[in-house]
Amino acid sequence: MAMMNRVAIAGLGPRGMAHLRGFLENPERFEVVGISDLVNEKVAAAIAEFGEIPAFADARTMLEATRPDVFCFCTPPSVRLSLARLAVEFGVRGVAMEKPLAVSLSEARQLRDLLDGAGIRTVVCLQHKYLKQMRRLQMVVESGALGELNTIEASCRSWLSVVGVHYIDYALWIAGNRRATRVCGHVHGTGKLDNPHPSPDYVLGHWTLDNGCRVCFQSGIDAPDYVPGKLHTNSRLTCHGTHGYAWADTEGGWGTLNRETGGVLVESRDPGWPEQWPELQKPYSADFADWLDDKSRVHPCNLAQAYHGFEIATAMYLSALENRVVDLPLAELPEEPLVERMRRELPEEPKQ
Ligand SMILES: NC(=O)c1ccc[n+]([C@@H]2O[C@H](COP(=O)([O-])OP(=O)(O)OC[C@H]3O[C@@H](n4cnc5c(N)ncnc54)[C@H](O)[C@@H]3O)[C@@H](O)[C@H]2O)c1
Repeated sequence: MAMMNRVAIAGLGPRGMAHLRGFLENPERFEVVGISDLVNEKVAAAIAEFGEIPAFADARTMLEATRPDVFCFCTPPSVRLSLARLAVEFGVRGVAMEKPLAVSLSEARQLRDLLDGAGIRTVVCLQHKYLKQMRRLQMVVESGALGELNTIEASCRSWLSVVGVHYIDYALWIAGNRRATRVCGHVHGTGKLDNPHPSPDYVLGHWTLDNGCRVCFQSGIDAPDYVPGKLHTNSRLTCHGTHGYAWADTEGGWGTLNRETGGVLVESRDPGWPEQWPELQKPYSADFADWLDDKSRVHPCNLAQAYHGFEIATAMYLSALENRVVDLPLAELPEEPLVERMRRELPEEPKQ
């Protein structure tokens, strides 16, 4: 039988509001028992939009008072570990958090070990898999119409910590939740290293997956311009197989040419991210409730996959900094956050 999950949410920026909406849209699975933000106006805005919900000055007070099943935090990338510790302290069963997982691999590993060690089912919001055009892409891949996948191209014009982490995850997902075993990378540009979402301005990578499929990944200023004039939604995932290819982009585009289309290119256009995003959080949250009910129904945005994506990003950085191929899983963590090392070692370029 489906269980009701009591949820407390910290951080009510645009993403906290999206998660709040997603929980409220599943009233038979989630009850929102508390909200908090460091900024009072954010709490007031949430109550004005969604109605009266108990509000708290800080996350600890909220967890003490509400003892929720699920702790959701939608805070900036540097505010994760302290809240994960609270999740463990207050014995929640589920955590919902935002991407990027962390700002360094060592922090990502601490986060994973802490939450996994406590048996907490954790989702990291890499939710573009729920876009209609991404579902279409998944259907054509799973139908076998492309034959055997041999190459996946994942590309976004926005920088890695903002959108690149999404597309690393989508490349693994569309390949059937595979693992990367061998990674090479190139990085350049220091303009975004001091951003709250720190990354080089451009990352180019090549990974080999455990089934032999290859991934060509690009994120940042020199990536292809598939949707001119757009930054964060200028992204595309393309799958090449033995019988054809198919792609989907964040702005609603989808296309395929394969043996079943008779060698003809078939295309469609759904509404883009700006129109579709409010619809994604409802099925995303419903799938989280299913996973909380039944541990075999693992959520497509689970922590293990997000951690592996973060590991791949770090491997691309390491490969670029040391001019070598990096094998995964990484035997040892880099001695210092690679963002620090890139600040020191990369030549300065004009800011993005
Ligand atoms: N999955 C997606 O599609 C997507 C899209 C945009 C942003 N994001 C990610 O979501 C995260 C949040 O993005 P945003 O745009 O909502 O950010 P934001 O900075 O607008 O909002 C974050 C909120 O968290 C609050 N906060 C910080 N520390 C807190 C604490 N300890 N307790 C309670 N509240 C706290 C801040 O006051 C702020 O209101 C980022 O990591 C971002 O990368 C994800």
